[in-house]
Amino acid sequence: MKALVLAGGKGTRLRPITHTSAKQLIPIANKPILFYGLEAIARSGIKEVGIVVGDTAPEIQQVVGDGSQLGLKITYIPQNAPLGLAHAVKISKDFIGKDIFLMYLGDNLLKEGVSALVEEFKAKKPNSQILVAKVPNPQQFGVVEMDGNDRAVRLVEKPKQPKSDLALVGVYLFDSNIFKAVNEIKPSARGELEITDAIQWLLDHGFQVICKRVGGWWKDTGRLEDLLEANRLLLENIEGRVASEEQLDSRSKLEGRVILEEGAQILHSTIRGPAIIGKNTRVYRSYIGPYSSIYHDVSIEESEIEHSIVLEYARIKNVKSISDSLIGQRVEVMKSASAPAAYRLMLGDSSRVEIP
Ligand code: DAU
Repeated sequence: MKALVLAGGKGTRLRPITHTSAKQLIPIANKPILFYGLEAIARSGIKEVGIVVGDTAPEIQQVVGDGSQLGLKITYIPQNAPLGLAHAVKISKDFIGKDIFLMYLGDNLLKEGVSALVEEFKAKKPNSQILVAKVPNPQQFGVVEMDGNDRAVRLVEKPKQPKSDLALVGVYLFDSNIFKAVNEIKPSARGELEITDAIQWLLDHGFQVICKRVGGWWKDTGRLEDLLEANRLLLENIEGRVASEEQLDSRSKLEGRVILEEGAQILHSTIRGPAIIGKNTRVYRSYIGPYSSIYHDVSIEESEIEHSIVLEYARIKNVKSISDSLIGQRVEVMKSASAPAAYRLMLGDSSRVEIP
């Protein structure tokens, strides 16, 4: 059995962060999203993984490498343009061969992992197995209509008027009949070959598709609110850990569950967990509040921040009350001492700033 992980695409909803970097590499609780999926795949016993990559291929290859650190053998499958999830399947035919496979969307997080799903698929041997989760906003997902016996009858991609509140989770299992389906379907109105249409094709042609409801929580991290929520859910389960007592001076305090990674320095500051402070990050005369993930080599001085994700090499100085934020790599946020007292901004395309 193999796995196909989709890490191409555009990430338009997370611009400007995704103008320059892959959305699947945004860290949640200081680990790139993609690794949660890859680790879950490794735990399920699958070894051979194909990763579909687009424009951000070099960055993904640099971070993930050949997969040996995870016990995986990774093959990169370039996709020239993000022409849809079913297109990604189509171009992976040589890699998959005649095997059964797990397909995992690289921006999805699944608390329960994939091991039980893989076991069930191997035991029951249907042609496909899909997962659904109840959501408040089904129009933003593939939507599945079920009959009274919990069987999928209809799948529609992002319908304006959804007929159910069950979203299709980005974790699918297929046998090689899916290649017939992806070759038969036509692009949707948004110009993509949709995996929902391919699964509908399987249903319409008498193939067996098992539909399961997700056990624990599931998050598609396509939008800022979802990233912050995923960060909250993951920090909820951390155990506090301090690499060395010397990382904290006598005027600093850790409250609740806080992880201080190697080389993180906390001076004259309070960190209230759950929170994680990355390698070589320096926090000085500041307050870091619950549900904050501060990545490596960040500098935070005379500032207050909570419920936020801060990426590597960012600098925050003299800014009080940052909340619900995603701050990108090498971003600088600081209070200026010089007149006039105006907001001076240098923001990338599609940035968003909310000012009280
Ligand atoms: O997260 C679940 C949802 O994922 C499902 O409910 C939908 O049915 C499914 O279409 C998908 O919707 P999204 O709009 O969230 O898909 P997105 O474009 O974000 O792509 C999902 C992942 O696949 C992401 O890591 C990028 C990658 N991708 C996407 C496309 C369109 C590729 O590698 N190649 C592609 O051509």
